[in-house]
Amino acid sequence: MIGCILLAGGKGNRFGAKKQFLEINGLKIFEYSLKTIERVEEIDFVVVVLPKEDLDIEIKSSKKIIRVEGGSERQFSVYSGLRAIADCDIVAIHDSARPFATVNMFREGINNVKAGWDGSITAYRSPDTIKRVINNEIVETLNRDEIYVVQTPQVFDFKKLLKAHEYALENNILATDDSALMEKLGYRITLNEGSFFNFKITYLKDLEMVECFIKGEKMKS
Ligand code: CTP
Ligand code: MG
Repeated sequence: MIGCILLAGGKGNRFGAKKQFLEINGLKIFEYSLKTIERVEEIDFVVVVLPKEDLDIEIKSSKKIIRVEGGSERQFSVYSGLRAIADCDIVAIHDSARPFATVNMFREGINNVKAGWDGSITAYRSPDTIKRVINNEIVETLNRDEIYVVQTPQVFDFKKLLKAHEYALENNILATDDSALMEKLGYRITLNEGSFFNFKITYLKDLEMVECFIKGEKMKS
C-alpha cells in the first residue's frame, strides 16, 4: 500500500490568509496538488491534513480520502497524518502550498523507495551561489555544486518515517522537512528531480508567479 499525506493544515501567517483554500482559476490551491496525486496510479489513498475549523471542507477526489486535524507546526501535522494511517509500505508527504508538483516527482520518489532507498526527496541543484550570513555579514560561501534546493513531494518507507517522527518527539527535535528527521537516525535518502516551477507559495507576492505559470500552461495547451 502507498499513501500520500497532503498538508493543508497551516495558518498562512506570512501570506496573511490560509493560502491553501484560495481559489485560482476555478480550483483551490490544495486541489491543484490533489488533481496531480489522482494521476499517480501507485497511490492508494490520500490523508488530507486540515485546520480544525476546516475539517468539513468539500473534497472531491477519485482517491480514497482520510481527513485529519493538523498540529501547531508542520512537523506535528505530518505526525497526525502518519498516525491516521493504520498500515502502509510507502508514504509521500506533500505541501499543498506547492501546486505545481508533477506526477513524475511522485513517481520517481516512489520508485527510488521501492528500489531500496529509505527516502527520496524532490530537489534541484542550486543555480545560485549560496552564502551563510550572520548579522548582515558574509561568513561562508558554500560550494554550489553540493547545494540543492529541497522541495516536496518527499517519499519515505512508512515505518521508518514514523520511527523518525517518534524519535523527534521524544527528543524535542523540530525540523522544517521530514528528510531532516530521517537523516538524524542515519537513514539513507536520495534525490528525485525537482524544478524551480515547483515553488512554495509563501508570501502574497508569490501569487504573481502562480498567475504567470497558469497563463504559460494555458498558452502551451
Ligand atoms: N502546514 C500544515 N500544518 C502546519 C503548518 C503548515 O499542514 N501546522 C502545511 C501548510 O498548509 C503548507 C505546508 O505545510 O501547505 C508548508 O507550510 P508553510 O508554507 O510554512 O505554510 P503555513 O505554515 O501555512 O505558512 P506560515 O509559516 O507563513 O504560517
Ligand atoms: Mg509554516
